Amino acid sequence: MNAPAPRIVTVGLGVRAYDILIGPGLIGRAGAEIAARLPKARVAIVTDANVAPCHLAALKLGLDNNGVGLIETLILPAGEKTKSFPFFEQVVDGLLAARLERGDAVIALGGGVIGDLTGFAAGVVRRGMQFVQIPTSLLAQVDSSVGGKTGINSAHGKNLVGVFHQPRLVLADTGALDTLPPREFRAGYAEVAKYGLIDQPDSSPGWRKTGAAFFRRAGTHGSDRRGPANQRPMLWRATNSRPATGRCSISGIRSATRWKRRRPMTARGWCMGKASPSAWRWRTGFPPA
Ligand SMILES: NC(=O)c1ccc[n+]([C@@H]2O[C@H](COP(=O)([O-])OP(=O)(O)OC[C@H]3O[C@@H](n4cnc5c(N)ncnc54)[C@H](O)[C@@H]3O)[C@@H](O)[C@H]2O)c1
Repeated sequence: MNAPAPRIVTVGLGVRAYDILIGPGLIGRAGAEIAARLPKARVAIVTDANVAPCHLAALKLGLDNNGVGLIETLILPAGEKTKSFPFFEQVVDGLLAARLERGDAVIALGGGVIGDLTGFAAGVVRRGMQFVQIPTSLLAQVDSSVGGKTGINSAHGKNLVGVFHQPRLVLADTGALDTLPPREFRAGYAEVAKYGLIDQPDSSPGWRKTGAAFFRRAGTHGSDRRGPANQRPMLWRATNSRPATGRCSISGIRSATRWKRRRPMTARGWCMGKASPSAWRWRTGFPPA
Protein backbone atom coordinates (compact mmCIF):
# COMPACT_ATOMS: atom_id res chain seq x y z
CA MET A 1 0.00 0.00 0.00
CA ASN A 2 1.29 3.48 -0.86
CA ALA A 3 2.00 5.84 2.04
CA PRO A 4 -0.32 8.86 2.28
CA ALA A 5 0.92 12.13 0.79
CA PRO A 6 3.13 13.97 3.26
CA ARG A 7 2.19 17.25 4.81
CA ILE A 8 4.47 20.00 3.47
CA VAL A 9 5.53 23.01 5.50
CA THR A 10 7.59 25.58 3.61
CA VAL A 11 10.05 27.62 5.60
CA GLY A 12 10.03 30.99 3.86
CA LEU A 13 13.59 32.24 3.84
CA GLY A 14 13.73 33.80 0.38
CA VAL A 15 16.45 32.16 -1.68
CA ARG A 16 17.14 29.80 1.20
CA ALA A 17 13.51 28.65 1.52
CA TYR A 18 13.07 24.93 2.00
CA ASP A 19 10.35 22.35 2.51
CA ILE A 20 9.73 20.18 5.54
CA LEU A 21 7.88 17.03 4.53
CA ILE A 22 6.10 15.22 7.35
CA GLY A 23 4.60 11.76 7.08
CA PRO A 24 5.30 8.04 6.93
CA GLY A 25 7.51 6.38 4.32
CA LEU A 26 9.67 9.41 3.60
CA ILE A 27 13.00 7.64 4.09
CA GLY A 28 12.15 5.37 1.16
CA ARG A 29 11.05 8.40 -0.86
CA ALA A 30 14.12 10.46 -0.07
CA GLY A 31 15.81 9.54 -3.35
CA ALA A 32 12.88 10.89 -5.37
CA GLU A 33 12.59 14.05 -3.30
CA ILE A 34 16.32 14.77 -3.53
CA ALA A 35 16.45 14.02 -7.25
CA ALA A 36 13.59 16.48 -7.80
CA ARG A 37 15.25 19.30 -5.87
CA LEU A 38 18.95 18.67 -6.50
CA PRO A 39 18.96 16.92 -9.88
CA LYS A 40 22.71 16.69 -10.41
CA ALA A 41 23.83 16.25 -6.85
CA ARG A 42 25.80 13.27 -5.64
CA VAL A 43 25.32 12.49 -1.97
CA ALA A 44 27.01 11.25 1.19
CA ILE A 45 25.11 9.86 4.16
CA VAL A 46 26.08 10.40 7.79
CA THR A 47 24.25 8.28 10.35
CA ASP A 48 24.83 6.50 13.65
CA ALA A 49 25.22 2.90 14.70
CA ASN A 50 21.70 2.65 16.16
CA VAL A 51 19.87 4.20 13.25
CA ALA A 52 21.83 2.54 10.44
CA PRO A 53 20.53 -1.01 11.00
CA CYS A 54 16.93 0.27 11.08
CA HIS A 55 16.78 2.80 8.24
CA LEU A 56 19.92 2.98 6.14
CA ALA A 57 18.95 0.22 3.71
CA ALA A 58 15.63 1.90 2.82
CA LEU A 59 17.39 5.20 2.22
CA LYS A 60 20.05 3.63 0.01
CA LEU A 61 17.46 1.73 -2.01
CA GLY A 62 15.45 4.90 -2.66
CA LEU A 63 18.57 6.79 -3.74
CA ASP A 64 19.57 3.99 -6.06
CA ASN A 65 16.10 3.70 -7.60
CA ASN A 66 16.14 7.38 -8.45
CA GLY A 67 19.63 7.55 -9.88
CA VAL A 68 21.11 9.57 -7.03
CA GLY A 69 24.81 8.74 -6.79
CA LEU A 70 25.79 7.69 -3.28
CA ILE A 71 29.51 8.37 -2.88
CA GLU A 72 30.14 7.85 0.83
CA THR A 73 28.40 6.47 3.92
CA LEU A 74 29.74 7.32 7.38
CA ILE A 75 28.36 5.39 10.35
CA LEU A 76 29.37 7.02 13.63
CA PRO A 77 28.92 5.88 17.23
CA ALA A 78 25.56 6.87 18.74
CA GLY A 79 25.38 9.42 21.53
CA GLU A 80 26.22 12.96 22.53
CA LYS A 81 29.98 12.29 22.60
CA THR A 82 29.87 12.06 18.82
CA LYS A 83 29.04 15.77 18.66
CA SER A 84 32.69 16.62 19.16
CA PHE A 85 35.83 17.74 17.33
CA PRO A 86 37.22 14.25 16.59
CA PHE A 87 34.03 13.11 14.84
CA PHE A 88 33.60 16.48 13.17
CA GLU A 89 37.08 16.03 11.70
CA GLN A 90 36.18 12.50 10.62
CA VAL A 91 33.08 13.72 8.76
CA VAL A 92 34.88 16.66 7.14
CA ASP A 93 37.75 14.40 6.03
CA GLY A 94 35.30 11.80 4.74
CA LEU A 95 33.46 14.37 2.61
CA LEU A 96 36.69 15.81 1.22
CA ALA A 97 38.19 12.39 0.54
CA ALA A 98 35.03 11.48 -1.37
CA ARG A 99 35.61 14.57 -3.52
CA LEU A 100 32.14 15.92 -3.04
CA GLU A 101 31.61 19.39 -4.46
CA ARG A 102 29.64 22.35 -3.20
CA GLY A 103 26.59 21.39 -5.27
CA ASP A 104 26.59 17.89 -3.83
CA ALA A 105 24.59 17.02 -0.75
CA VAL A 106 25.23 15.59 2.68
CA ILE A 107 22.33 13.66 4.20
CA ALA A 108 22.01 13.50 7.98
CA LEU A 109 20.07 10.35 8.91
CA GLY A 110 19.60 10.28 12.66
CA GLY A 111 18.70 12.21 15.77
CA GLY A 112 19.78 15.67 16.84
CA VAL A 113 23.37 14.62 17.38
CA ILE A 114 23.85 13.46 13.81
CA GLY A 115 21.85 16.41 12.45
CA ASP A 116 23.86 19.03 14.35
CA LEU A 117 27.24 17.47 13.55
CA THR A 118 26.50 16.79 9.89
CA GLY A 119 24.95 20.20 9.34
CA PHE A 120 28.06 21.85 10.74
CA ALA A 121 30.32 19.80 8.47
CA ALA A 122 28.09 20.60 5.48
CA GLY A 123 28.23 24.27 6.42
CA VAL A 124 32.00 24.50 6.31
CA VAL A 125 33.21 21.94 3.75
CA ARG A 126 33.88 23.82 0.52
CA ARG A 127 32.39 26.86 2.29
CA GLY A 128 28.94 25.31 2.36
CA MET A 129 27.51 22.20 0.76
CA GLN A 130 23.90 21.20 0.24
CA PHE A 131 22.42 19.60 3.32
CA VAL A 132 19.41 17.30 3.74
CA GLN A 133 18.01 16.44 7.15
CA ILE A 134 16.27 13.11 7.73
CA PRO A 135 15.55 13.34 11.45
CA THR A 136 14.74 9.99 13.07
CA SER A 137 14.14 10.94 16.72
CA LEU A 138 11.06 12.82 17.87
CA LEU A 139 13.22 15.60 19.26
CA ALA A 140 15.02 15.99 15.95
CA GLN A 141 11.76 15.94 14.00
CA VAL A 142 10.04 18.63 16.03
CA ASP A 143 13.02 20.74 16.91
CA SER A 144 16.65 20.31 15.95
CA SER A 145 16.30 19.51 12.25
CA VAL A 146 14.59 22.81 11.49
CA GLY A 147 16.08 26.27 11.58
CA GLY A 148 19.62 25.70 10.43
CA LYS A 149 21.28 25.70 13.82
CA THR A 150 24.23 23.30 13.59
CA GLY A 151 27.26 22.61 15.72
CA ILE A 152 29.23 20.53 18.15
CA ASN A 153 30.19 20.62 21.79
CA SER A 154 33.57 21.72 23.10
CA ALA A 155 35.42 21.23 26.38
CA HIS A 156 33.96 24.61 27.37
CA GLY A 157 30.34 23.61 26.94
CA LYS A 158 27.56 22.29 24.78
CA ASN A 159 26.83 23.64 21.29
CA LEU A 160 29.53 26.30 21.53
CA VAL A 161 31.02 25.73 18.08
CA GLY A 162 28.93 25.82 14.94
CA VAL A 163 27.30 27.76 12.14
CA PHE A 164 23.85 28.55 10.87
CA HIS A 165 23.42 26.49 7.76
CA GLN A 166 19.93 25.92 6.38
CA PRO A 167 19.01 22.51 5.01
CA ARG A 168 17.71 22.24 1.44
CA LEU A 169 15.10 19.74 2.56
CA VAL A 170 13.84 18.13 5.76
CA LEU A 171 12.16 14.73 5.57
CA ALA A 172 10.48 13.93 8.89
CA ASP A 173 9.49 10.31 8.39
CA THR A 174 7.03 9.60 11.19
CA GLY A 175 7.45 5.87 10.51
CA ALA A 176 11.06 6.16 11.73
CA LEU A 177 9.72 6.75 15.23
CA ASP A 178 8.58 3.11 15.37
CA THR A 179 12.15 2.05 16.13
CA LEU A 180 12.88 4.87 18.57
CA PRO A 181 13.41 3.65 22.15
CA PRO A 182 10.59 4.86 24.49
CA ARG A 183 13.03 6.87 26.60
CA GLU A 184 14.08 8.85 23.55
CA PHE A 185 10.45 9.32 22.56
CA ARG A 186 9.71 10.83 25.97
CA ALA A 187 12.64 13.22 25.63
CA GLY A 188 11.19 14.56 22.39
CA TYR A 189 7.68 14.56 23.72
CA ALA A 190 8.62 17.13 26.35
CA GLU A 191 9.45 19.47 23.51
CA VAL A 192 6.18 18.74 21.72
CA ALA A 193 4.19 19.41 24.88
CA LYS A 194 6.04 22.69 25.32
CA TYR A 195 4.89 23.95 21.94
CA GLY A 196 1.37 22.81 22.72
CA LEU A 197 1.39 24.73 25.98
CA ILE A 198 2.71 27.89 24.40
CA ASP A 199 0.35 27.78 21.49
CA GLN A 200 -2.85 27.06 23.38
CA PRO A 201 -2.09 27.15 27.08
CA ASP A 202 -5.68 26.83 28.21
CA SER A 203 -7.02 24.40 25.67
CA SER A 204 -6.29 21.14 27.38
CA PRO A 205 -9.00 19.26 25.43
CA GLY A 206 -6.89 19.99 22.35
CA TRP A 207 -4.07 18.05 23.93
CA ARG A 208 -6.13 14.93 23.83
CA LYS A 209 -6.07 14.95 20.06
CA THR A 210 -3.78 12.61 18.23
CA GLY A 211 -0.03 12.75 18.37
CA ALA A 212 0.02 13.60 14.68
CA ALA A 213 -1.87 16.84 15.25
CA PHE A 214 0.44 17.71 18.08
CA PHE A 215 3.45 16.86 16.02
CA ARG A 216 2.34 19.01 13.09
CA ARG A 217 1.92 21.98 15.38
CA ALA A 218 5.31 21.42 16.92
CA GLY A 219 6.94 21.00 13.54
CA THR A 220 5.55 24.29 12.37
CA HIS A 221 6.75 25.96 15.52
CA GLY A 222 10.20 24.54 15.06
CA SER A 223 10.53 26.65 11.97
CA ASP A 224 8.48 29.62 13.13
CA ARG A 225 10.51 30.20 16.20
CA ARG A 226 13.70 30.68 14.29
CA GLY A 227 12.00 32.99 11.86
CA PRO A 228 13.46 34.69 8.85
CA ALA A 229 17.18 35.32 8.81
CA ASN A 230 17.62 33.18 11.89
CA GLN A 231 16.21 35.87 14.14
CA ARG A 232 14.77 34.48 17.33
CA PRO A 233 11.29 35.90 17.77
CA MET A 234 9.37 36.31 20.98
CA LEU A 235 8.10 32.75 21.06
CA TRP A 236 11.56 31.29 21.30
CA ARG A 237 12.62 33.78 23.93
CA ALA A 238 9.47 33.07 25.89
CA THR A 239 10.11 29.36 25.92
CA ASN A 240 13.66 29.78 26.98
CA SER A 241 13.22 32.47 29.57
CA ARG A 242 13.28 31.63 33.22
CA PRO A 243 11.34 30.80 35.19
CA ALA A 244 8.70 30.75 32.43
CA THR A 245 6.98 27.66 31.14
CA GLY A 246 9.83 26.37 29.06
CA ARG A 247 13.47 26.04 29.93
CA CYS A 248 14.04 26.68 33.60
CA SER A 249 17.24 27.51 35.38
CA ILE A 250 19.76 24.69 35.51
CA SER A 251 19.60 24.56 39.29
CA GLY A 252 15.80 24.55 39.16
CA ILE A 253 15.80 21.61 36.80
CA ARG A 254 18.43 19.85 38.86
CA SER A 255 16.53 20.12 42.08
CA ALA A 256 13.19 19.36 40.48
CA THR A 257 14.26 16.42 38.42
CA ARG A 258 17.32 14.80 39.98
CA TRP A 259 19.25 15.86 36.88
CA LYS A 260 21.67 12.98 36.76
CA ARG A 261 18.92 10.41 36.47
CA ARG A 262 17.03 12.02 33.61
CA ARG A 263 17.83 13.18 30.14
CA PRO A 264 17.80 17.00 30.05
CA MET A 265 14.90 17.19 27.63
CA THR A 266 12.82 14.90 29.81
CA ALA A 267 13.85 17.05 32.72
CA ARG A 268 12.62 20.11 30.91
CA GLY A 269 9.24 18.54 30.34
CA TRP A 270 9.10 17.47 33.97
CA CYS A 271 9.97 20.89 35.18
CA MET A 272 7.46 22.48 32.84
CA GLY A 273 4.53 20.42 33.97
CA LYS A 274 5.82 19.59 37.44
CA ALA A 275 4.95 16.09 36.39
CA SER A 276 6.66 12.90 35.40
CA PRO A 277 5.83 11.74 31.87
CA SER A 278 3.26 9.30 33.22
CA ALA A 279 1.60 11.95 35.35
CA TRP A 280 1.71 14.23 32.37
CA ARG A 281 -0.21 11.68 30.36
CA TRP A 282 -2.68 11.30 33.18
CA ARG A 283 -3.25 15.03 33.15
CA THR A 284 -3.44 15.63 29.43
CA GLY A 285 -4.42 12.32 27.92
CA PHE A 286 -1.45 12.54 25.56
CA PRO A 287 0.20 10.51 24.23
CA PRO A 288 -2.65 7.98 24.10
CA ALA A 289 -1.90 4.85 26.14
N1 LIG B 1 20.04 22.32 16.35
C1 LIG B 1 19.07 22.59 17.17
O1 LIG B 1 18.31 23.54 17.01
C2 LIG B 1 18.84 21.67 18.35
C3 LIG B 1 17.68 21.78 19.10
C4 LIG B 1 17.47 20.89 20.14
C5 LIG B 1 18.42 19.93 20.43
N2 LIG B 1 19.55 19.85 19.67
C6 LIG B 1 20.56 18.80 19.93
O2 LIG B 1 19.98 17.54 19.64
C7 LIG B 1 20.70 16.56 20.39
C8 LIG B 1 19.72 15.61 21.01
O3 LIG B 1 18.96 15.02 19.97
P1 LIG B 1 18.34 13.56 20.15
O4 LIG B 1 17.53 13.52 21.38
O5 LIG B 1 17.72 13.17 18.87
O6 LIG B 1 19.67 12.69 20.47
P2 LIG B 1 20.43 11.58 19.63
O7 LIG B 1 20.73 12.03 18.27
O8 LIG B 1 21.57 11.15 20.48
O9 LIG B 1 19.38 10.40 19.53
C9 LIG B 1 18.97 9.77 20.72
C10 LIG B 1 19.21 8.24 20.64
O10 LIG B 1 18.19 7.68 19.82
C11 LIG B 1 18.79 6.91 18.80
N3 LIG B 1 17.87 7.01 17.65
C12 LIG B 1 17.52 8.13 16.97
N4 LIG B 1 16.57 7.85 16.09
C13 LIG B 1 16.33 6.52 16.19
C14 LIG B 1 15.43 5.64 15.53
N5 LIG B 1 14.53 6.06 14.64
N6 LIG B 1 15.48 4.33 15.87
C15 LIG B 1 16.34 3.88 16.83
N7 LIG B 1 17.17 4.67 17.51
C16 LIG B 1 17.17 5.98 17.19
C17 LIG B 1 20.16 7.49 18.57
O11 LIG B 1 21.03 6.54 18.02
C18 LIG B 1 20.55 7.85 19.99
O12 LIG B 1 21.03 6.71 20.67
C19 LIG B 1 21.53 17.30 21.40
O13 LIG B 1 22.88 17.27 21.04
C20 LIG B 1 21.00 18.72 21.34
O14 LIG B 1 21.99 19.68 21.63
C21 LIG B 1 19.78 20.69 18.64
